[in-house]
Amino acid sequence: MQQAIAILDSGVGGLTVAREVMRQLPQESIIYFGDSERSPFGPRPAEEVMRFTKEIVHYLLQFKPKMIVIACNTATAVALDEIRRSVDIPVVGVIHPGVRAAIKNTKTKRVGIIGTEGTVKSQAYDKALKEIAPHIQVTSQACPKFVPIVESGIEENEEVIEIVRESLRPIQIDGLDSLILGCTHYPFLTETIAKVMGPNVELINSAEETAREVSAILYHRGELAKATTPPQHKFVCSGEPQLFQQIAERWLARKIEVERMIWEKTTS
Ligand code: DGL
Repeated sequence: MQQAIAILDSGVGGLTVAREVMRQLPQESIIYFGDSERSPFGPRPAEEVMRFTKEIVHYLLQFKPKMIVIACNTATAVALDEIRRSVDIPVVGVIHPGVRAAIKNTKTKRVGIIGTEGTVKSQAYDKALKEIAPHIQVTSQACPKFVPIVESGIEENEEVIEIVRESLRPIQIDGLDSLILGCTHYPFLTETIAKVMGPNVELINSAEETAREVSAILYHRGELAKATTPPQHKFVCSGEPQLFQQIAERWLARKIEVERMIWEKTTS
């Protein structure tokens, strides 16, 4: 097997990034890990998210990946710098790509961010946006009910619409034209979020920009996969594999196999 790109998340959210990597880099192999047993990460203390992220990275390193993508905003917010320091391969997070996409999109200079409690509390987006474009006005809102909906595989229904409407009420601000989906699970709810926010608000999904960053780094390092070896993907989760597989196959529009990895001592 050619050297893969390792992608991690607390569950199925990182598949939104994996799908985009598959689309932009169809020759690359992916090893995906979803920590569905310990999902959600959002309400957990930063130290715990840091420890979980280190454990997942340690697990993934056995596959000798050429790059790690932390496809989880909550983990990116607390652990990106530390993981970068601890491994000798490139590590990509999802916050800066989302920030760049929002800056590119906004005309009114009013940007909203929705994410987990952990991400919003860390203010990682606010800081990254202010650093690059201090004139942009930022409003953040945690939406803790979204990740459990996505992880349970529920598709849109009346109850989901009501939850989304209620959760997004504080972010419906005059002049806001860009809303960063600051959690990789949220693109699963794109249609509902778009319906609630209305046509004047563009939803910013960092997956596309993250895949572009992955592509650029591999290109500059001369590490893009060769067309001679067909890509092979591997999907591992720590929770219920059937449910993960069902959600993943629907999202990726392809058949996959999912392995279960059980953490040695339970740390959830
Ligand atoms: N998908 C993750 C994120 O982007 C984690 C969500 C969670 O587990 O709470 O933040």
